[in-house]
Amino acid sequence: MSILKIARLGHPILQKRTSIVKKIPHPSIKKLIKDMTETMLDAKGIGLAAPQVHVSKKIIIFRVPEEAVKNKNSTIEITALINPKITKISKATEDQWEGCLSIPGMTGLVKRSSKITYKGHDMNGNLIKKEAEGLHARIVQHEVDHLMGILYIHRLVDSRAFGFVNEIEDYWKNEKERK
Ligand code: NI
Repeated sequence: MSILKIARLGHPILQKRTSIVKKIPHPSIKKLIKDMTETMLDAKGIGLAAPQVHVSKKIIIFRVPEEAVKNKNSTIEITALINPKITKISKATEDQWEGCLSIPGMTGLVKRSSKITYKGHDMNGNLIKKEAEGLHARIVQHEVDHLMGILYIHRLVDSRAFGFVNEIEDYWKNEKERK
């Protein structure tokens, strides 16, 4: 396995629509998913889409680690999804702060559907179909956006709700400071 170089904001591959993976399982796709997993863990990320490692294909990986959620039952093991599709199953939305390995050190407030179902194939070609809510649903929506060339900064709730993590922690997240 190897750690891959992550494309950062400004690289045109992040704005390109990706192509469908036609052959699953395939050794090169398996290797890519393993390398993406190693890359995501090395960068301490919770999601990664193939274009972020300069591969314009419909592949995402994600996880919901224990430290990211209050309820231990809502953790999700590292999951790879090939050719993923999302369906929104609720009109409810949530605003939450997001980050992205392609925009290091920064964070922005983004509205996402609270509840979705998603489906796709794993690296062995098995169909995965799941319902997701909260952070799990948010990560999948963020990663699938990458496959359409959309970054979270294109979906900000407010154009001012974006900045360096430290500044946002100090000001935006502290209601008193905002007034
Ligand atoms: Ni991202």
